[in-house]
Amino acid sequence: MCNVIILGSPGGGKGTICKKLLKNFEFTHVSTGDLLRSHISGQTTLGLKAEKYINEGKLVPDDLVIGLIQQLKTDKSLLLDGFPRTLHQAFSLGNVMTIDSVIALDIPHETIINRLSNRWVHAPSGRTYANDYNPPKVSGIDDVTGEKLTQREDDKPDTIRTRLENYQKQTAPLIEYYKNNTNVHFQIFSGTESDVIYPEVADFLHSRFAV
Ligand code: AP5
Ligand code: MG
Repeated sequence: MCNVIILGSPGGGKGTICKKLLKNFEFTHVSTGDLLRSHISGQTTLGLKAEKYINEGKLVPDDLVIGLIQQLKTDKSLLLDGFPRTLHQAFSLGNVMTIDSVIALDIPHETIINRLSNRWVHAPSGRTYANDYNPPKVSGIDDVTGEKLTQREDDKPDTIRTRLENYQKQTAPLIEYYKNNTNVHFQIFSGTESDVIYPEVADFLHSRFAV
């Protein structure tokens, strides 16, 4: 098992890079954001607790998210998108599995604010579109199901700012944590274009292992 973490600011392209990686590598993709949103739309107990944090741009409390990860069952390597996001989550993860590599995406915040206000999603599947970067074939409609696209509640400009501030305070310390962990292969990928960053990420993973 070669478990990989994708770390990066909200809207930094984690989901976009993961989608590309899944075409070339055998991973189980785990986005805690997507899992939480499916709990919210299913109105589960967890979803009802998580919703207000997400809509306010705050992190969901550690115990709720860690519980979600502990329920995962897969025999493939994991591609962890958006988990861990606090040092406490990272310590808990270290107790249940080995992490082989950490990919840290470093994208300027101005780029992120523009992108997120332009993002449309197909909520049931988590498929993401941007009007300029990867527009749907028909405006406002999901390519696969023909269903309507929506905007995420937390993609409002004020909430995006709160998410970025919380990222700096709570998640950015993970960069130093993994950089200093000699058992983990860590690399930062900087830039503004996922299409330019992706081949570098793929080379890094190919050089690490064949999955
Ligand atoms: P989550 O869903 O993970 O949101 P996030 O981290 O804020 O990141 P996003 O999914 O918004 O962005 P992304 O990095 O995937 O970027 P994307 O590829 O879409 O989490 C949501 C919430 O859930 C959190 O705020 C928190 O409340 C809670 N949560 C989740 N995990 C948690 C945890 N572990 N602990 C506690 N709480 C947790 O790209 C962004 C946009 O850019 C897209 O529109 C895309 O199409 C576009 N784009 C990508 N590349 C390009 C390009 N080259 N040019 C132009 N546009 C591009
Ligand atoms: Mg995402």
